[in-house]
Amino acid sequence: MSTSVGTEKLIVNGKRLDGRSASDLRPLKMEVGILKKANGSAMVEWGKNKVIAGVYGPREVLPKHMTNPHKAIIKARYAMAPFCSLEEHGRMGPNRRAHEIAKVAKHVFENAVLVDQFPKTMINVTMEVLQSDGGTRVSAITAASLAMADAGIPMRGIPCGIAVGKIDGQMVVDLDKAEDNKGQSDMPLVVMPDTGEILLFQMDGMLSKDEVARGIDLAFEAANKVREKQVEALKTKYEKVELEINGENAGGDGGKPASEITVI
Ligand code: CDP
Repeated sequence: MSTSVGTEKLIVNGKRLDGRSASDLRPLKMEVGILKKANGSAMVEWGKNKVIAGVYGPREVLPKHMTNPHKAIIKARYAMAPFCSLEEHGRMGPNRRAHEIAKVAKHVFENAVLVDQFPKTMINVTMEVLQSDGGTRVSAITAASLAMADAGIPMRGIPCGIAVGKIDGQMVVDLDKAEDNKGQSDMPLVVMPDTGEILLFQMDGMLSKDEVARGIDLAFEAANKVREKQVEALKTKYEKVELEINGENAGGDGGKPASEITVI
């Protein structure tokens, strides 16, 4: 969240304080299938953020009265571990911010998952932030999208989270905590590169109409890179499964090699 407006230099000689250009992402690493007891799971390490997501379901709805006869209901949870940053996170239970992020994540997946294929069920999505450094909501939703795909739950495309914002008067992608706190504005987005849709749009601070438009363009460009990593992580998981099923000779006569699988 922006606390001061342009009082500190965040761009020096055309570079951000960590050496990135306006369109550079922080290092991004993803792994799928990390929780043995979830139907789908993933870890995303994005700069100094570290997030685990698990997906459970589709399964019986509890409490029963929430059952929708026409579609699956999505329940989401976002939580920061007490040790995720130097700030205080030790209080029991979710705070207002955690409720808000869980709510927006729920809406993302209600619009991405083919919920009408699973009437009378619920899908639980849980996102746990182990380490935080700005942009945890988009990191968490990006991880949850992978977990959803890992669970084999059909979606219209893969949601990709990316935050953009304005620092030192310039629109940039993937703000870290210092940029998020000291910049002029931040705009977390979740987009679906496959369909060109925006599933989440939030904004702090003030931007002109042109800056918002430029931010959206930057977000879609960056989301293509996020999507590439997501597809890579899913393929790596399929390769592991293929090896487990077919042994060392997988990919010979035993079906399609994972490298040829197309993820839509
Ligand atoms: O994480 P995100 O950018 O989506 O949310 P934010 O509310 O804009 O917070 C920016 C950053 O401040 C987070 O990523 C955390 O590093 C830090 N933060 C925190 O440590 N504890 C909080 N309760 C809120 C924010």
